[in-house]
Amino acid sequence: MAKRIQIKDILNTSEFNRQVTIMGWVKTFRNNQFIAINDGSCIHNIQAVVDFNNTDETLLKRITTGAAVAVTGNIVESLGKGQKVEIKVTDLEILGDSDPEKFPLQPKKHSLEFLREIAHLRFRTNTFNAVFKIRHSLSFAVHQFFNEKGFVYMHTPIITASDAEGAGEMFRVSTLDPDNMPRNVDGSINYKEDFFGKATNLTVSGQLEGELAAMAFGNVYTFGPTFRAENSNTTRHLAEFWMIEPEMAFYDLDDNMDLAEELLKYVIKYALENCADELEFLKERLLEEEKSKPAAERSELDLISKLKFCLDNEFERLTYTQAIQILKSSKPNQKKQFKYLINEWGADLQSEHERFLVEKHFKKPVILTNYPAEIKSFYMRQNDTDENGKNTVRAMDILFPGIGEIIGGSQREERLEKLEQRMHDMNIPTEEMSWYLDTRRFGSAFHSGFGLGFERLVLFVTGMTNIRDVIPFPRTPKHAEF
Ligand code: 4AD
Ligand code: MG
Repeated sequence: MAKRIQIKDILNTSEFNRQVTIMGWVKTFRNNQFIAINDGSCIHNIQAVVDFNNTDETLLKRITTGAAVAVTGNIVESLGKGQKVEIKVTDLEILGDSDPEKFPLQPKKHSLEFLREIAHLRFRTNTFNAVFKIRHSLSFAVHQFFNEKGFVYMHTPIITASDAEGAGEMFRVSTLDPDNMPRNVDGSINYKEDFFGKATNLTVSGQLEGELAAMAFGNVYTFGPTFRAENSNTTRHLAEFWMIEPEMAFYDLDDNMDLAEELLKYVIKYALENCADELEFLKERLLEEEKSKPAAERSELDLISKLKFCLDNEFERLTYTQAIQILKSSKPNQKKQFKYLINEWGADLQSEHERFLVEKHFKKPVILTNYPAEIKSFYMRQNDTDENGKNTVRAMDILFPGIGEIIGGSQREERLEKLEQRMHDMNIPTEEMSWYLDTRRFGSAFHSGFGLGFERLVLFVTGMTNIRDVIPFPRTPKHAEF
């Protein structure tokens, strides 16, 4: 068999009248003559034209949507609309049949909900082809960004014995037999008998180990899967998601925010430059989808303009306290339209509040800083108590339109006593975390870091609205198919 070439290379060619072999999957077959074939190398199909008078009838019948084919033929200029190049077929082989009665993907529009149920096949649709190409490109751009800046990529462990966020939302990892658990005298489970000799779980964040490495390499980052056993059934939460976590020695909160803003703009720009066809497709898809919505609910900007807008504008930076003032006197709060009304300082912000700030008030990405210590994690650097007696920490959350929180980070508490005190107050075991506290015992230095939720970034860039549609096989409460 001749060597196969990729469809994307043929579509861009200007060398006609040469023989090529392509392999791919049939999208449609019209008039017993025109096969649209896609091989995944780009979002576009190539048209292969069969001479049906000289082709065996039984073979023609096997050219069905979803079938895998190998086609050899001549590259010719296309007379049809919509493509410049097509292939005049001289030889066609069915590599794998696809029974049209049974194949669930037919050449018509399927709902995203339906496609989610057949996630093993949805890669073959244009929408998911575009989404996962963009996901790939964003991932590559993240590594390129950090590599250019000399950051060291650290692989932090997936199985840990600590709770990095102190929120207790962990999946247990154990080889103990649930029907025959070893017990201590008091009836509790004896984890000394377990595989690791202690209770272990899937990591919720690589941050703590990242901090250890930052205290030697200066600038490091992790990019790996993280797991949260929180029962959140929303369009923005997964039980298994990927997170990018840079950690930098000698960075204060301002440096941290600058880096985060630069990273987001860099990867969005990369996608605009490298995924133009995919973004164009998704932009049109979104415009089409929004036609059925009332005008007031449609986006002001199309997908590509939205991404460019994000590059061209500085993110708005303000404190939590300033945000609370804005929210308190906002219309939806006054008119009691928020589900959670903002009455006082200290309230945790819900996504309705975050989205009000970003989408209605500032109309651009927002960075909120200096949150109440009460609602944030133990490792964040404590500010001095302010004139009103309020305790805040040097946290920063980045809020994006349509998404809400996309990044959460902070300057870290580098003072041993302060950190120990806070861990104590929050019932976080200091003895088991002695290794973490060692960074504060030996050569402690001010440092900062943040976590970027990768799927939330992909959501933003693709304009998709459900996080389950930007990860190949989503894990959410009661769902772990495939
Ligand atoms: O705000 P989070 O919980 O912060 C941390 O885990 C820190 N240790 C990060 C750090 O400072 N190194 O999570 C960070 C980001 C969020 O802003 C959000 O984008 C994403 O991770 N995220 C989730 N994405 C999908 N599903 C979930 N259940 C998520 N939880 C957090
Ligand atoms: Mg957070």
